[in-house]
Amino acid sequence: MIDDLTETVPARASRNVRTMTPKRLLMCPPSHFDVNYSINPWMVPEKPTSRDLAVAQWEQLRDLYVGLGHTVEVIAPEQGLPDMVFAANGATVVDGRVLGARFRHRERTAEGPAYLRWFEENGFDSVHWPEYINEGEGDYLLAGRTILAGSGFRTDRRSHAEAQDFFGLPVVSLTLVNPRHYHLDTALSVLSDDEIMYYPEAFSDSSRRVLETLFPDAVRASAEDAAVFGLNAFSDGRHVLLPQSAVGLMAQLRERGFEPIGVDLTELLKAGGSVKCCTLELRTA
Ligand code: ARG
Repeated sequence: MIDDLTETVPARASRNVRTMTPKRLLMCPPSHFDVNYSINPWMVPEKPTSRDLAVAQWEQLRDLYVGLGHTVEVIAPEQGLPDMVFAANGATVVDGRVLGARFRHRERTAEGPAYLRWFEENGFDSVHWPEYINEGEGDYLLAGRTILAGSGFRTDRRSHAEAQDFFGLPVVSLTLVNPRHYHLDTALSVLSDDEIMYYPEAFSDSSRRVLETLFPDAVRASAEDAAVFGLNAFSDGRHVLLPQSAVGLMAQLRERGFEPIGVDLTELLKAGGSVKCCTLELRTA
């Protein structure tokens, strides 16, 4: 009996040992940040914003990544593109292959070629200019070798087939139904190859059933945590960086052996973005 006990304790503990994978990330400083148009319900142009505060908060996020051992590359921000800080929307990169972004709103269209140029100039030779509208990692998230793909507000559903063809990986189409969660990365976050956290209410009934089938063990976010953008998170397999007011999610993550790190990006939230939106993963392996 005693033998049995000594066997179970380490086995149970080992499931909670989390290891981080160092990542290569692309970010864009909010040097031209502003909210002077509204393309999602978070954006209220009448509300004052502070560019200095946005820059300071963004720098904190960048320094956190570097401190944790990640590599951060920086793309030059362009005047007249206040949303360019949301690098996640700039492309989707898997196995070194780059699917460019094609934005739905004309206010952001110039970001597509701007990001694509960065890839061409930085040694990525498999770069694809997309046929259909897609907003990069805003709507494409990689879980293991499966691509989870959002549509409903921004990315055209026809882009999901284009992504599957380009990457040669299975794409699971998910439909978003809540305008406050207009991108997939505002409603779902990948924690490890086979674990996610998400807010079920942001998805159509059939997409919820798909997520339950694929990830029966997922962390489900409360309405409160989803409302403070808690799902707009970045995970390296051990550390999970997320908006600091998502206290419920932090407790759930801690319970699963992750190390949640709260980040203050309230200024960028005025444009409807946070941790994940500011972060594009360069998967070069
Ligand atoms: N204002 C931007 C937009 O509405 C925010 C983009 C946030 N990015 C993201 N990956 N969810 O397009």
